[in-house]
Amino acid sequence: MDMTIRKFLNFLNQFMKIPNVRLEVMQTIEKSMDDLLKKYLKPIEKNWQPSDLLPDSKSPGFFEEVREIQGLAKEMDYDLWAVLIGDTITEEALPTYETWLMNVEGVDQNGRNGWSKWIRGWTSEENRHGDLLNKYLYLSGRVNMREMEISTQHLINDGFDIGTGHDPYRSFVYTSFQELATNISHRRVASFSKNSGNQLLAKICGVIAADEARHANAYIDFINRIFELDPSQVMLAFEDMMRKKVVMPAHFLRETGDAIGELFSHFSDAAQRIKVYTTQDYIDILEILLKEWNIENIVDLNDSAEKARDYLMALPNRLRRISERVKIPEKQYEFKWIGI
Ligand SMILES: [Fe+2]
Ligand SMILES: [Fe+2]
Repeated sequence: MDMTIRKFLNFLNQFMKIPNVRLEVMQTIEKSMDDLLKKYLKPIEKNWQPSDLLPDSKSPGFFEEVREIQGLAKEMDYDLWAVLIGDTITEEALPTYETWLMNVEGVDQNGRNGWSKWIRGWTSEENRHGDLLNKYLYLSGRVNMREMEISTQHLINDGFDIGTGHDPYRSFVYTSFQELATNISHRRVASFSKNSGNQLLAKICGVIAADEARHANAYIDFINRIFELDPSQVMLAFEDMMRKKVVMPAHFLRETGDAIGELFSHFSDAAQRIKVYTTQDYIDILEILLKEWNIENIVDLNDSAEKARDYLMALPNRLRRISERVKIPEKQYEFKWIGI
């Protein structure tokens, strides 16, 4: 919604004493923000930093360690490597995600600032992901860094369109889903790397995956609290996000010469081929969320929210039937990101 219209409606609501329930819900949860920050974010100085996992360029053994990284990088599966680069670009587009979250209704950067503290804390943890992966890929000698950087700049420049608007309910449903999806994808790259003898990359993706899991728990908790306060509206928001299908944050991905979003399907096909992130994972995440939010047993729903619940409960089976028909192209795509 346009900013001026939103401001006008807020004014009208105040004037007519129509309660803005979403804002009230956000303000209620915000009262517990100190506990939430402690529970779901780590103290900065005890947290891991990218340099803990990478060779120290001040050390005499640096070049030897880099040679080892490069030797192992050459042996990594092509699709897996492409997915790792795509994941890195997705992490590097963090400015897009932070600016979107700061604009969600109920997040106030000037007056009350509990929610903006959460978003800054989350961003500061997430920022380490792209930083670590980017440095690793630079050292690997198997990436055309300029091509990767162009894709990153394009992705930040193109933004995204994820269908949440400024709505906190839709936004936190989206982040719950997304943090689970990134957890799966980093975790899989970690285990494939371990199996191919690349212990360092396994460790790198493993620590990132652990952050994503912790963040997923936070967003799932936010939605659980919203279900206690405004069950019908959050049920409808969940239904709406699933009807629209949850798009990935990098759905506008492109490389040099491409139109917006042209590369995304190749990236997602590669992830499906090597089973780093599949349609089955999408369905599994939906089932986790249905369980975490106890959708089956939520009470006090209005009629349309009851219908939304029915739709959501039936959705995993519907998606399973559709996914059986999806064909993934077997042929690898040649990404400009990957040098020889
Ligand atoms: Fe991340
Ligand atoms: Fe994340």
